[in-house]
Amino acid sequence: MAPLLRVNDLRTHYFGFRGTRVVKAVDGISFSVEAGETFGLVGESGCGKTTTCHSIVRLLAPSAQIVGGSIELEGEDLVKKSQAEMRRIRGRRIATILQDPMASLDPLFSVYDQVAEPAYYHQSLRGQKLRQRVKELLAAVRIPSPERRMKDFPHQMSGGMRQRIVGAIAQAGGPRIIIADEPTTNLDVTIQLQYLNLLKDLQRATGVALIFVTHNLGIVAKMCDKVAVMYAGKIVEMQSVRGLFYRPRHPYTKALLDSIPKLGVKEPLYGIPGQPPDLAALPVDCSFHPRCRQAMDRCRIEEPWQHNLNGDGNVRCWLPIDEEAAGRG
Ligand SMILES: Nc1ncnc2c1ncn2[C@@H]1O[C@H](COP(=O)(O)OP(=O)(O)OP(=O)(O)O)[C@@H](O)[C@H]1O
Ligand SMILES: [Mg+2]
Repeated sequence: MAPLLRVNDLRTHYFGFRGTRVVKAVDGISFSVEAGETFGLVGESGCGKTTTCHSIVRLLAPSAQIVGGSIELEGEDLVKKSQAEMRRIRGRRIATILQDPMASLDPLFSVYDQVAEPAYYHQSLRGQKLRQRVKELLAAVRIPSPERRMKDFPHQMSGGMRQRIVGAIAQAGGPRIIIADEPTTNLDVTIQLQYLNLLKDLQRATGVALIFVTHNLGIVAKMCDKVAVMYAGKIVEMQSVRGLFYRPRHPYTKALLDSIPKLGVKEPLYGIPGQPPDLAALPVDCSFHPRCRQAMDRCRIEEPWQHNLNGDGNVRCWLPIDEEAAGRG
């Protein structure tokens, strides 16, 4: 059976003034997401995670352009759709939860209006049925006394509640897949955990698939089934969550795991030396080699291609960490 979403060799670039500077924010990535699955996208700031999400829902900045590849949702290529067609797809088939709930909520409309809109538009609910549906959606994201609170405006709610309202809006059109781009970065840790649990519960109840973007590997371990690690616009490793944590194969993934502070271990904190490369001046070699602990001559002259791993997944490295050396269990 075809996956729910299949992204194939997607390339999205930002074009500067008169095309002088081209930022290859997403540079040939492929992955697929099955129904009901949680797919994690991790990587340092600026590696292209948000550009990937915006490409999928076709809400890119005016300077950005999808220059290659396809994004198939249930077999239909979204890259070929018009914006009018995309409006019927967004909310109904793919929904988004973004980092900043205040930016996703309209301060001038009540919570009721904002949660009702996708249910009105995509599910054609009206009158009492619509009211009932909004109440259910708010109760599902654990807004206390939804009947009363739905008359409120966003500023009358706490940050955690606002993020839950955004979660309710994402569910309202009954989507098959929700893209959550760093949805908990603005929340404090206890509220973060509540929100993650809530998303998991909603997922169990509705069977919706999630694309979960984060730079927090702890959150990946908790939330995801499969993970793609992005570096400088490319997926350098993709594996099941278990595989990635127990047997990382790309030196970058290993370095990311090594930079997680460990409780009770009094070693100095490890950070990955150097900076991510300038995406407007990418060399033809492996873009990670200047920061890699095991770079060889070949890494400086030739870009690694993607090797399939035994089982499920792939890695883009000339010298993937071998199984014995990477064993962590
Ligand atoms: N509107 C834009 N115009 C030009 N370049 C952009 C624009 N938006 C993003 N970029 C560049 O594209 C690259 C990828 O950015 P993106 O926002 O997708 O990264 P990210 O992985 O989501 O980062 P973060 O973790 O900080 O959210 C970066 O180099 C960024 O500077
Ligand atoms: Mg981002």
